[in-house]
Amino acid sequence: MTPGVQPEAEFRSAVARLLEVSASALTFTSLSGGVSSDIWRVDTAGASYCAKCALPRLKVTALWEAPTARNAEEVRWLRTVRPWIGEQAAEVIAADEQRGIAVLAWYDPQRWRNWKVELLSGRVSIELAGRLGRLLGTIARLGAERQDLACSFDNQTLFEALRIDPFFRHLLTRYPVVATLIAELEEQQNTLIHGDFSPKNILVDDKGDIRILDAECATWGCAGFDPGYLLAHLLLKLEHTGNRALLSAAKHFWQCYLMETRRPDRVRNQAHPLLKEQDLARQVSLTLAGVLLARVDGKSTVDYLTDTQQRSVRARALTLLSQPPLAVTSLLNDWLAL
Ligand SMILES: Nc1ncnc2c1ncn2[C@@H]1O[C@H](COP(=O)(O)OP(=O)(O)O)[C@@H](O)[C@H]1O
Ligand SMILES: [Mg+2]
Repeated sequence: MTPGVQPEAEFRSAVARLLEVSASALTFTSLSGGVSSDIWRVDTAGASYCAKCALPRLKVTALWEAPTARNAEEVRWLRTVRPWIGEQAAEVIAADEQRGIAVLAWYDPQRWRNWKVELLSGRVSIELAGRLGRLLGTIARLGAERQDLACSFDNQTLFEALRIDPFFRHLLTRYPVVATLIAELEEQQNTLIHGDFSPKNILVDDKGDIRILDAECATWGCAGFDPGYLLAHLLLKLEHTGNRALLSAAKHFWQCYLMETRRPDRVRNQAHPLLKEQDLARQVSLTLAGVLLARVDGKSTVDYLTDTQQRSVRARALTLLSQPPLAVTSLLNDWLAL
């Protein structure tokens, strides 16, 4: 929280309009934590909310600009998946598409903790990782059955600006092998993806309940992207902390994801795109490797790895990019020896 900072009058009135109250009835408290939006806790006499406003320039050292229309895409993603995963998707109370403002339910930090913080503090629940695998698997499976979403979430331009360019194209001159990953992400699009499915965008409580936030990069995209992205973040934290429970969590996450995407009681169409395990494994492995590389040599680098750890991550990422394994399970089983 940043005490004393107050929003501009126009933003205040826009939030008041969305909540159908007078601006003077609202108290705003600025929250730190995000890099791509201004985030506020908003209190009325009877309730609290979270107001999120997309920034045209991200709060990272390198120049990284992005269209503010991404706020409306987050809102649409949250609303689309809510019938599939229920309240595990953050609740959208109201949104102003033109201004790029979303008002969400308030998830009180007294109860809800950021999963990244939990993992880095050594609180690694394997069971929770499995639940996240099933949750993401459900979205991937149901998304793939909704061809209409290919049109309504045709956000490739946004995905290029927020993910492919800054994470991967940025690395091409130094590592030409990244071209394989870019081609995969641009050509293999088969379901609805979140696009930033990392522990920092997941809130958890003591009971293991989950709230997914921050779907600004949502698009019809490559199924392997979301699981690959999450696995990369778990493996980066493993590198940093040496806590083997993170590897167990990664393995369980993947097993549950895979089981959920191919449940025989749910998937009747044998041509379902997620059933081709080798394709999925290639997408996941390439994404995982690309994200690892981007997090050590890209625009938005992790702040917690030593030079030696960075070298080790880089070497493994380059091996995977040039020879993606045929199964993610073997990649994870061999991870420590890679
Ligand atoms: N609905 C919410 N309730 C409570 N806190 C929230 C909510 N949404 C976001 N936050 C807080 O703000 C941080 C950044 O939010 P996020 O949606 O991830 O924005 P950014 O796009 O800037 O990363 C979260 O990690 C969380 O601490
Ligand atoms: Mg975030």
